[in-house]
Amino acid sequence: AWLTVLLCLAAYLLGSVSSAILVCRVLGLGDPRDQGSGNPGATNVLRLGGKGPAALVLLFDILKGTIPVWGSYFLGLPPLALAAIGVAACLGHIYPCFFQFHGGKGVATALGAVAPIGWDMIGAVIVTWLLIALLSRYSSLASILTAVLTPIYALAFKGQYAIAVGVLCALILWRHHDNMRRLWQGTEPKLGQKKPSLE
Ligand code: G3P
Repeated sequence: AWLTVLLCLAAYLLGSVSSAILVCRVLGLGDPRDQGSGNPGATNVLRLGGKGPAALVLLFDILKGTIPVWGSYFLGLPPLALAAIGVAACLGHIYPCFFQFHGGKGVATALGAVAPIGWDMIGAVIVTWLLIALLSRYSSLASILTAVLTPIYALAFKGQYAIAVGVLCALILWRHHDNMRRLWQGTEPKLGQKKPSLE
């Protein structure tokens, strides 16, 4: 049990390292929390700095979920512990202790955390997100609908992780309430729209 608590803490601390804020700082792009959607995540870095920096942020944020869960799996921890460690990583990304607890929406880190469940899970989640993003051109709509569907995928592929996946998806949906309002009002910027006016 102590090992699980320790690994949850480590996952939370790693999750708290906001790659969007750090990448933007290093590249002189300013703070992503003050520009665009105000979200420190790959979508907003795409708006602020283009594809390269966004891809970097996406990769780092995915790894923040994958490394602690996969590492703990190899240490032989049971499913319940792995689930807690995955949730802890996402809580770190969303409420980072190193950045005044103002973090992102958890999409990339949650994808990274559920990835070790298996290729069927990874494939279903990525195809769902890409399909909705390509069809609608809204990153947020893709994230929202993927978060609605992913607990069902978890139930289908590995039922023992369904509750943890459900918790992660509920967190993601909660963090998208501003996006839902903008989508509803028709003011959400589409992918590729460079200078959105958001409030
Ligand atoms: O993953 C976050 C994405 O769904 C929305 O990001 O910056 O458009 O609020 P953003």
